[in-house]
Amino acid sequence: MATTRRPFVGGNWKMNTTRAAGLELARAVADAARAHPEAEVVVYPSFPFLEGVRERVSGSGLSVGGQDCAGHQTGAHTGQVSAAMLQEVGCASVLIGHSERRHGLSESDALLSMKLHRAVECGLQPVLCVGETLAQREEGNADGVIAQQLHGALHGHSEQSLAALVIAYEPVWAIGTGRTAAVSDAEAAHRTVRQTLADLYSARFAEQVRVVYGGSVHAKNAAELFGCEEIDGGLVGGASLVAADFATIIASAASRSSMRRGR
Ligand code: PGA
Repeated sequence: MATTRRPFVGGNWKMNTTRAAGLELARAVADAARAHPEAEVVVYPSFPFLEGVRERVSGSGLSVGGQDCAGHQTGAHTGQVSAAMLQEVGCASVLIGHSERRHGLSESDALLSMKLHRAVECGLQPVLCVGETLAQREEGNADGVIAQQLHGALHGHSEQSLAALVIAYEPVWAIGTGRTAAVSDAEAAHRTVRQTLADLYSARFAEQVRVVYGGSVHAKNAAELFGCEEIDGGLVGGASLVAADFATIIASAASRSSMRRGR
């Protein structure tokens, strides 16, 4: 079935860029986003740069999001940033459960479920990241891990509350390593995501949620990845810091929607 899912491209800047370099990068990405309105483009700068970047890209069609939000609404949580704060500085989106937080900071599915609640309450688009480690893949358990992560984080959430949900499938072993998942493996994982969403909610919901791939997406492999029916775009780390490369990735995602119209 041809879908009408709008391609999504996220640029996860992680703990990179200076303020000046971030503003310059944002300006260039805004130009690319303006040139390709078929794709939804979001950049995720570090917290201190969010407001400046958002002001810089205002009116371009490029959105800005947080790399994380707290599981609590407010209070004594030193160093954390709430979903409401992100919303107040103009964020439209937030990453939840990135592997560098799941594995580097031991974030649990229960905590991610709380973060998802906070994001939804504040009207932020949640981009929930899931993905297996190399050991889990080699044990033949990739699908099981993906399904378990989805069940854990989505627990207690209604289909209606998740209308804006995006899922990023990011195999941990492909993030920042230059090792991309084989297109057939990525496609299979995306099918697992969609089947799990259908089991948890409905086939209709599963069909409309965007499922994007992350893990060493770059200018040269984006077109092949995004050419797959199941892959609705990408969450990009390293290559999103290079304006020309990220522009190529955005163009690849946008042409996916024109390919579809031609089908
Ligand atoms: P990468 O990172 O593109 O540098 O592999 C992807 C991510 O962490 O979202």
